[in-house]
Amino acid sequence: MAEEQPGGSARADGEGRGEERMAEEQPGGSARAGGDGRGEEFEFHTGTIRPSKEPDAIEFIEVHKSFGRNHVLRGLNMALPENSISMIIGPSGTGKSVCIKHIVGLLYPDEGDVIVHGKSIPSLSDAELFEARKKFGVLFQDGALFGSLTLWDNIAFPLRQHTEKSEEEIAEIVNRRMREVGLGGEGAKMPNELSGGMRKRAGFARSLVLDPQIVLFDEPDSGLDPVRTALLCELIKEVHSENGGCYVVITHDILSARRVGQHISVLWKGRIVESGPADELFESENPFVRQFLSGASAGPLGME
Ligand SMILES: Nc1ncnc2c1ncn2[C@@H]1O[C@H](COP(=O)(O)OP(=O)(O)OP(=O)(O)O)[C@@H](O)[C@H]1O
Ligand SMILES: [Mg+2]
Repeated sequence: MAEEQPGGSARADGEGRGEERMAEEQPGGSARAGGDGRGEEFEFHTGTIRPSKEPDAIEFIEVHKSFGRNHVLRGLNMALPENSISMIIGPSGTGKSVCIKHIVGLLYPDEGDVIVHGKSIPSLSDAELFEARKKFGVLFQDGALFGSLTLWDNIAFPLRQHTEKSEEEIAEIVNRRMREVGLGGEGAKMPNELSGGMRKRAGFARSLVLDPQIVLFDEPDSGLDPVRTALLCELIKEVHSENGGCYVVITHDILSARRVGQHISVLWKGRIVESGPADELFESENPFVRQFLSGASAGPLGME
């Protein structure tokens, strides 16, 4: 960390962002490898943000995040609209999961800001963050169920943690959500008795029990067969059309993106290449966007 901070200032505390960024972008001032936005590295990053019809629910403003020497988010500007299903797509290791963790306040930006419904997440106190988290449902990449709890108790967990609801009310909600994802009657099973697809659906049910305004899905389709992927996509669409709100889906699967994506942000090298309404992105002339959305081997992206 120390060698990355030429000014010797404590960047990790998340304060004094604006001034420090200016300081770091002075020529010769920083040891970051190629992260300053000059040269060919960002030639496809037009950063074009095509307007969407809805206001922004989530905004990343000039976010930088490093882990040691690994500069993952490199001035990320991204907006995710209200009342839409947004897809974040991009190569493995570009920082998609890291983005999700910034939205829910599990990670803090080194510089820049993350705004959710007009509030700066990094500036919230612990108590405010605990409150704010009630508006999120999160489906982590691996389902993240508690191994020692039954499926039923896993799905009831956020309600017991965050609400004063009676066990009767909890049962009503849990049973409804479980039926919705096709797991009715499986509540007594332990997570290790479930298939990967069932764990994903359980994670989905759990992410919905608090009626969240924002639902974040980290690769809900990875490890599923094509039919289950299609069914899960349908389920996401169905639940979204019923509940509304800002749904954010991270995926590698272009078919999934076509099926459910209303808004697409293409992330690469810690910045947005292009973003906007899905139908416009699928028509993009940008060589990287074209390569990625068609899954072609020829194009700017190699096996680096
Ligand atoms: N807590 C952490 N500590 C150190 N490095 C991290 C941490 N979390 C993520 N990284 C690094 O940040 C980079 C981006 O990781 P991230 O998990 O966001 O990638 P991703 O875009 O979600 O990739 P994938 O599509 O494979 O899931 C990787 O190089 C990873 O090693
Ligand atoms: Mg990931």
